[in-house]
Amino acid sequence: MNLTYIATAAMGLESLVAHEVRDLGFEDVKVENGKVIFKGDESALCRSNLWLRTADRVKLLVGEFKAETFDELFEQTKALPWSDFIPENGEFPVIGKSVKSKLFSVSDCQAIVKKAVVDQMKNAYQRETWFPEDGALYRIEVALLKDVATLTIDTSGTGLHKRGYRALHSEAPLKETMASALIKLTNWTPDKPFVDPFCGSGTIPIEAAMIGQNVAPGLNREFASEEWSWIDKKVWYRAVEEANDLAKYDTPLDIQGSDIDHKMIELSINNAEEAGFGEFITFKQMQVRDFTTRKEYGYVISNPPYGERIGEKEEVKQLYRDMGNAFRSLETWSVYVITSNEQFEQLYGRPATKKRKLYNGHIKTDYYQYFGKRRQEAKA
Ligand SMILES: C[S@@+](CC[C@H](N)C(=O)[O-])C[C@H]1O[C@@H](n2cnc3c(N)ncnc32)[C@H](O)[C@@H]1O
Repeated sequence: MNLTYIATAAMGLESLVAHEVRDLGFEDVKVENGKVIFKGDESALCRSNLWLRTADRVKLLVGEFKAETFDELFEQTKALPWSDFIPENGEFPVIGKSVKSKLFSVSDCQAIVKKAVVDQMKNAYQRETWFPEDGALYRIEVALLKDVATLTIDTSGTGLHKRGYRALHSEAPLKETMASALIKLTNWTPDKPFVDPFCGSGTIPIEAAMIGQNVAPGLNREFASEEWSWIDKKVWYRAVEEANDLAKYDTPLDIQGSDIDHKMIELSINNAEEAGFGEFITFKQMQVRDFTTRKEYGYVISNPPYGERIGEKEEVKQLYRDMGNAFRSLETWSVYVITSNEQFEQLYGRPATKKRKLYNGHIKTDYYQYFGKRRQEAKA
């Protein structure tokens, strides 16, 4: 079947998601706000869920049309081939959202879509009575944007940031998808040293290890669509087999995480073991100001405290100064810092080589990037 999928992306990460989608070999890739649209068969559904590191979830597009009245929404939803995807016992709750549209009552839109889907399926399955909805989950979404309704079925289940390794997290954890994005925005390669001096629950080092050994982020979890009747189990097996074949578990890594808080170090160690990287990442309790290294051409990628909480502001100022001092002499190292603190460069003591706006959840942040000297420059 030639199907259309939508990989949803946090604002600002669309181009990274599109890059990943293209790398997987999918066709007709289009980028819009918050989403990347692509085409593929059933195996694309399995492979995109298993491999996309920076996308939030993968949805199957069932239809898209203009709808300014409830009648238009109902009739056009009913005309879509729901029964091609949802079996007679499928569970199909409807969620919704509406932005800048005449149909703004989300609960009414959801109820109308539900009724239209039931009608289409009653016809297709020649059924008079209620559907039992005791089978696999096919979560429908009606998303209205400027009077255009996009109807999808979620293929992922739990969001793709849930890789299955982070049972426990710190107070301000970074989403795994964002941690991955921070790494993918650098030129780090697994042969180079990697340090996160504010590792918290270990998300950035663990995502780096996964990238470094080419481990598919979804290998350790389940997806709603694994239970879907029209996707042959063999297609899933093949996708998992491919991911197992492509993982390079013997790639040596030099990844280190540290944090001032020893409880965080325990968390990180547990999470890294859960992810299968216990022996590949070194974690130790340390303050950033004590960081020293003799290694060269390394990467620091970090998510320090932002100082947004009351009482934290002054402390964070000193922290950023300490970072500047600790990293100043490491001229071959590249340093990457995400923070919402607009004084960061001043306090760190140097303007960034490059900045990129990113949203960490709802917090507006900048990703400050300091490029280290390259091999030739450093020798000259
Ligand atoms: C925003 S959290 C990092 C969260 C992490 N990325 C995660 O996903 O769990 C910032 C971390 O910096 C640590 N920290 C605060 N001051 C520090 C210092 N002076 N040196 C090292 N770590 C520090 C905190 O203990 C906290 O775990």
